[in-house]
Amino acid sequence: MGAASDHMTAPPAIQLKARAVFLGGPGAGKGTQAKRLSDACKLAHISTGDMLRGQVAKGTELGRKAKVLMDAGKLVPDDLIVAMVQDRIAEPDARVAWILDGFPRTLPQAEALDRLLGTDPQKRLTRVVYFRLADAVLKARLVGRRNCSKCGAIWHVDSKPTKKAGICDNCGGALQQRADDRPEAIDKRLQEFHAQTGPLAAYYQKKSVLREIDADRSPDIIYKELVQLMQ
Ligand code: AP5
Repeated sequence: MGAASDHMTAPPAIQLKARAVFLGGPGAGKGTQAKRLSDACKLAHISTGDMLRGQVAKGTELGRKAKVLMDAGKLVPDDLIVAMVQDRIAEPDARVAWILDGFPRTLPQAEALDRLLGTDPQKRLTRVVYFRLADAVLKARLVGRRNCSKCGAIWHVDSKPTKKAGICDNCGGALQQRADDRPEAIDKRLQEFHAQTGPLAAYYQKKSVLREIDADRSPDIIYKELVQLMQ
């Protein structure tokens, strides 16, 4: 067998059958950690923000509706988001284990997720991780974030710069700044987060699945703790 097929059959680096939600303010590092963990553990990484940006790029009706709201830092209506997640978690790669990154974000979305998962113990939510970070740090992370337009890698002009400005180290793609990473949109996103999403911590605390993580540390330290919290 050649090296390529060895790689394809190799077990994931970490065995983790989690069905987890990553909660946290905009820029808390949910996407950075979810990408790393899903690669290491072969978990489906389901980011509602990435899915919406995919719809925007394709120019679908959902994408057109979502773009106006996203660029202004507002939330997309619950019914549209829930329908999108319902379809996604029914796909083959998401049957066993997944990370929901950025969903749920409102109480009605959390209740809808409970209904989608039902009472089957094989489908129950195993963990909700709350990435805690002060607003001032969140803002600095968002203002300096750059995303690769080709492979989606996440960079930061200060804390994770590419070797060549504007060019992705991984694939050579052009870096871009998200339209909602402008200061006015960031303020609105923070408002929405505190009003709509913050209260979900108490919701999941009552269900005994919530764990908090101090997100104001290096990505490597957070990752190590995250792996333990997810067991
Ligand atoms: P979405 O894309 O989900 O945005 P978000 O939740 O605001 O989160 P971000 O992607 O901005 O941040 P992140 O926590 O993933 O941080 P990242 O790892 O990139 O949603 C966008 C929009 O879509 C919403 O505003 C809404 O309109 C709509 N939407 C999406 N889901 C919805 C839903 N369920 N309901 C309704 N509407 C919905 O890191 C940020 C930066 O910090 C990067 O530059 C990174 O390199 C850096 N960084 C990461 N970790 C560290 C660290 N430990 N130390 C230093 N720097 C770090």
